[in-house]
Amino acid sequence: MIGLTARPQNNNLIRPGEIWPDTEGKHINAHGGGILFYNGIYYWFGESRLPRTEKDRTRYGVGCYSSKDLLNWKNEGLALRVINDTSTLLQPGCVIERPKVIYNKKTKKFIMWFHHELKGQGYRAALTGVAVSDNIAGPYTYIKSLRPNAGVWPVNFPEEFKNLSVNESDIKGKPDERIKAVKEGLYIRRDFTGGQMARDMTLFVDRNGKAYHIHSSEENMTLHFSELTDDYLNFTGIYYRVLPAESNEAPALFFAKGKYYMFSSGTTGWKPNPARLAVADKVTGEWMSLGNPGRGTEEENKITFGSQSTFVLSPKDKKNIYIFMGDRWTPENLADSRHIWLPVEWEDGIPVIKWYKEWNIKELK
Ligand code: DGJ
Repeated sequence: MIGLTARPQNNNLIRPGEIWPDTEGKHINAHGGGILFYNGIYYWFGESRLPRTEKDRTRYGVGCYSSKDLLNWKNEGLALRVINDTSTLLQPGCVIERPKVIYNKKTKKFIMWFHHELKGQGYRAALTGVAVSDNIAGPYTYIKSLRPNAGVWPVNFPEEFKNLSVNESDIKGKPDERIKAVKEGLYIRRDFTGGQMARDMTLFVDRNGKAYHIHSSEENMTLHFSELTDDYLNFTGIYYRVLPAESNEAPALFFAKGKYYMFSSGTTGWKPNPARLAVADKVTGEWMSLGNPGRGTEEENKITFGSQSTFVLSPKDKKNIYIFMGDRWTPENLADSRHIWLPVEWEDGIPVIKWYKEWNIKELK
């Protein structure tokens, strides 16, 4: 257990950036997370991180917390645990990031996907992992990790890109040519046989129940929106490239006022950078960039109030209310990373975020 204790909890306000004590007074250890509402209760899943040593390796797994009011969270323990066995890919020392859980109405199962890197391999593997449970809080049974969409072209991939012969050595040290080559599918072709890279990820269930696995691919330069099978446990092979060569990480989607919106970040490791906002009429695109949704000072907008998006929450008892969830990472002590929750506000029909030192979720309208 980590020792980040604060005042005894009975949280009445959201205080972005401060220690957020759970019902035992310990800082919520669920980072890069997301929330699922089920049977009147919110469940928050996220990376359960070590306090200090081996900063970016996973020793525990995926933490789960439950709450009725989104303010006071009970630690439900680890929903997914690393497995103490060197023959499994999920062994301690691998990396589990940005876990998300969705519910499948047909199979009545809870499905968790997460970014998965292998022990001793840095961030090279670029896999996505999947686990399943009959109970929302777990335990989740690990199924497999993979690179999605091996042997299939993206739906929106022009025919003429399929046979281009540019490869990585042609564009070495030539940044402009690299951007062009990536736009034209350099890495799609490179990874065609083995499967496409999958790093920062989220899940999104569309209004018709179809689920998408949305991940940074192509060396983190292009987002892929990959359709999941009806049981949400596999990829169908139908996928779309979104904002090619624009280097988006940390995707967080929501549907509001008839449109799909996505917050994302640039790619600067654990350091915050300017948030990005994009909009589309369909989840599969075309996505159009709307610029930086931050409405703070110039300095605050440059670093998204010191945060990186992870999820957009829509409380069940409120209509048209959305909450931006982000992480203020502390790389030397990831468990201490702070949760940055801010209300999504609307300005000229566009969702924006402003800084509040503290705010009252009950007053959102
Ligand atoms: C940025 C990603 O958004 C995080 O989830 C994490 O993978 C860091 N990079 C690691 O540097």
